[in-house]
Amino acid sequence: MLEVLNHPLITHKLTQMRMKETTTKDFRELLDEIAELMAYEVCRDLPVKPIDIETPMAKCVGYELSKEVVIVPILRAGIGLLDGIRRLVPTAKVGFIGLYRNEETLEPVEYFAKFPKNLDQAITMVVDPMLATGGSACDAISMVKKRGANNIKLVCLVGAPEGVKAVQEKHPDVDIYLAALDECLNDIGYIVPGLGDAGDRIFGTK
Ligand code: PRP
Ligand code: URA
Repeated sequence: MLEVLNHPLITHKLTQMRMKETTTKDFRELLDEIAELMAYEVCRDLPVKPIDIETPMAKCVGYELSKEVVIVPILRAGIGLLDGIRRLVPTAKVGFIGLYRNEETLEPVEYFAKFPKNLDQAITMVVDPMLATGGSACDAISMVKKRGANNIKLVCLVGAPEGVKAVQEKHPDVDIYLAALDECLNDIGYIVPGLGDAGDRIFGTK
């Protein structure tokens, strides 16, 4: 399943992020705001279970989330989506995957992994602003699957058709959520029109 979240607020904020003159501070704040808006939509189908409660007026049945949510940002840029999602799901646990793309081969290189226990019982959200060739997302999904994750959502800001296809082919069971599906990749593997290098723009490293 691919869902492109065409919400006017998300599109407006993403347009500001794309502008090359947007500062690091504004870029980071906009990403944080979009993450929260996306989380609202991504969480729409989270399972709930009934519980007996008592209000000041009467006993009744309420509903609470029945599965743990685990958010797994792909370092570095995925960190930019973490706080916004956690504001909506404050009970979520967090795992980390460190990957960077080799700039020549575009192949992802793993340098860190740390996960909470019981991924097999959880809904796992792998998050990264950019889905370009899809190599990083595919590897990250394989890593969480190896630890037992079986209910996985991939949440990205901007995707290229090439990346979506790669994930759909390798991990057809994973639901993909994007704020925008862009045109293509250029010859050095950047999304066009995209927004440039997300990690550098979030952390001010270029
Ligand atoms: C970027 C981005 C993704 C990856 C996407 O990370 O945040 O993780 O590239 O590209 P792919 O779909 O072709 O694998 P990068 O490697 O630049 O590392 P960074 O987050 O540390 O900047
Ligand atoms: N990584 C980025 O940060 N931007 C792209 O366009 C592609 C990969």
